[in-house]
Amino acid sequence: MNLAESPIRSKNGARDGEAPALREKIEALGPWFHNIDLGGIWTAPDHFLGDYPGDKFRRFAPNLPSDLTGKSVLDIGCNAGFYSIEMKRRGAARVLGIDSDDRYLAQARLSAETLGHEDIEFRRLDVYDVGALGERFDVVIFMGVLYHLRHPLLALDLIREHVAGDLLVFQSMQRGSKQLLDVAEDYDFNETEHFLESGYPKLHFVERRYAGDWTNWWVPNRACAEAMLRASGFCIETRAEDEVYICRRADRPYADWGDAAVYPARAKREGERA
Ligand SMILES: C[S@@+](CC[C@H](N)C(=O)[O-])C[C@H]1O[C@@H](n2cnc3c(N)ncnc32)[C@H](O)[C@@H]1O
Repeated sequence: MNLAESPIRSKNGARDGEAPALREKIEALGPWFHNIDLGGIWTAPDHFLGDYPGDKFRRFAPNLPSDLTGKSVLDIGCNAGFYSIEMKRRGAARVLGIDSDDRYLAQARLSAETLGHEDIEFRRLDVYDVGALGERFDVVIFMGVLYHLRHPLLALDLIREHVAGDLLVFQSMQRGSKQLLDVAEDYDFNETEHFLESGYPKLHFVERRYAGDWTNWWVPNRACAEAMLRASGFCIETRAEDEVYICRRADRPYADWGDAAVYPARAKREGERA
């Protein structure tokens, strides 16, 4: 995520100089993580991942419903709004993008307004607070956020409990093995070998930094990303692209034995209402 500051320039050069005011606004909000074509001016033309996330989206987009007419979409960790805008382009009736970072939200608002999608709503909200929305969405996008969280499974639990209505589009950076071990339903206490298998679900903890970014905390291998989705009550329909999953809200395993999302107890402060 830590992008080097890069000058904004037109990708094809054809419209350079046509929109100095817009160019200044884009530069003032930089650096950008999403490379979006704002009327000929690209917001992150030197992105370290290439045309990102456009290239990635084009690879998994065929797995998404092409017509979202009448549907509602929640884009969690919306950044500069690339996916929110793409969902609006597919006809979604309501698109809400949330992010914990005001500068990214400002980028998202500028992108949406410039492209004529003023009806996309962008709101500052942490993924842990999605319960405050009090609303379920037909499509929830949760891409590129899980590994930035100190409590990743809690976030998935909260999404499942409060906002997921049907489809979940999920992506996480993955590291380690891409193997999937066929994990048994249970093991004897003295059986330990399976923990050493590379295809066993593993969540790598980043105590310091990874890729120069102190906000990378937990990086799953493929088996773990998929197991976490299932464990929080999502059924994986398609691995649509490396690291991208199309899921549906489903029953949560062990739901009969207890709750998923935790709500830490805390003492009431003086004057605070219940
Ligand atoms: C790597 S970017 C991914 C952006 C976009 N979803 C994508 O896939 O291209 C991570 C985004 O998640 C946001 N984010 C990180 N922690 C968050 C949190 N706790 N709640 C909401 N958004 C968060 C960041 O501000 C950033 O915009």
